Amino acid sequence: MTTMHNEVPSARRLGAAPPVDDLSPVERLSTDELRALQLKRLQWTLHHAYANVPFYRKKFDETGVHPDDCRELGDIEKFPFTTKQDLRDNYPFGMFAVPQDQVRRVHASSGTTGKPTVVGYTESDLDAWATVVARSIFAAGGRPGHKVHISYGYGLFTGGLGAHYGAEKLGATVIPASGGMTARQAQIINDFRPEIIMVTPSYMLTLLDEFERQGIDPRSTSLKVGIFGAEPWTEQMRREIEERANIDAVDIYGLSEVMGPGVAQEAVETKDGLHIWEDHFYPEVIDAIDDVPLADGTTGELLFTSLTKQALPIIRYRTRDLTALRPGTARPAFRRMDKVTGRSDDMIILRGVNIFPTQIEEIVLDTADLSPHFQLRLTREDRMDRLTVLVEALPETAPERRGHASAEIADRVKDGVGASVGVEIVDPGSLERSVGKLHRVNDQRPRD
Ligand code: DLL
Repeated sequence: MTTMHNEVPSARRLGAAPPVDDLSPVERLSTDELRALQLKRLQWTLHHAYANVPFYRKKFDETGVHPDDCRELGDIEKFPFTTKQDLRDNYPFGMFAVPQDQVRRVHASSGTTGKPTVVGYTESDLDAWATVVARSIFAAGGRPGHKVHISYGYGLFTGGLGAHYGAEKLGATVIPASGGMTARQAQIINDFRPEIIMVTPSYMLTLLDEFERQGIDPRSTSLKVGIFGAEPWTEQMRREIEERANIDAVDIYGLSEVMGPGVAQEAVETKDGLHIWEDHFYPEVIDAIDDVPLADGTTGELLFTSLTKQALPIIRYRTRDLTALRPGTARPAFRRMDKVTGRSDDMIILRGVNIFPTQIEEIVLDTADLSPHFQLRLTREDRMDRLTVLVEALPETAPERRGHASAEIADRVKDGVGASVGVEIVDPGSLERSVGKLHRVNDQRPRD
């Protein structure tokens, strides 16, 4: 496996910054103008939620705050948090702020346990969502007239339909492939010749393997840009995909409770974190344990407050995603967030050591002779938790190299992460493949 993506000729990449005049007027706002717009919209959101959602009225009253207490943006810190549990407690439509006949669409996220969280959109919400996704695809290098192949799942998941309407709004031609039927997807990409693909990074790996299986060089396809999100992925994964597919790989972030894909997007010309579309979503970062606000530049739990949403205004929503806010670059007024490399719920605590699956991803993808496909297995023996990293060898890897690779991974996890783990190098193709969001961790520990 090679990882030097700078060897890739840049001719087919869409790397140049767009002329400023091509940006939408809002993307050209100054920071002061953006802050003024945010304050006006925040005040509207707080009043709208308080007046129309009993949950928010009760919570604000209990906390002793009123929407009129928000006179500047910093006043947001006086307002209570909202959690996924709050949405579950108000299942299905209890958090909606408009009569049902104004709700044009619902989506839901499955969640691992219990009831799904249900979200809703008015016509104006759907338009705002399509607008931020169109802006995101543009920032990724997409232009009107491009063909956009969408392999995010269509359905209650926000990925497929969210990407779909944004791409249409941009003026692109949509290929609504959805997830699964991988052989057919590879054939469609080959025949329809899209410039852009939108898919989870793990399913992109599955597609790349499929091209190779069909005898098609993935570097020879028409694809120029991949817009990857819905799950954490690392810089190592970016290099792996860019190198194997000869595309630019950029990050898109979002969550259903806040909107869906398109809350934040990385610009292709800088690839330096994701610009948050702050005219619609107000970010904060807090310490996940003490709940205190953190300054920009410090990593903690990301919160979002929606600024324009009618059907489901959401206030200080605790995403559980860990990141830091940074000043804007490609879109100067819009703060960036670091790539989300973990959620507080994904963290494995192994005998007192905190481990994020992305830390293992970095190591696996930097180790020779191995494929990027790996899984983490948690077991318990003699009351001791054990973590085993299962990694597929490459088809050409000689058997004697496997022992070497597994020792290297175990050493690097010990040195870099501080935990002793087992490593098994398994046969090519033996691990389950992603068709959407990947589940990295196979927790086989008995439930207490
Ligand atoms: O995953 C929305 C989405 C679809 C985003 C397609 C991007 C592309 P949910 O199913 O509600 O919504 O899951 C949201 O997924 O809180 C993060 O933990 C994770 N996530 C989403 N995008 C990224 C990303 C969609 N770019 C949850 N990097 C979020 C890391 C991500 N994690």
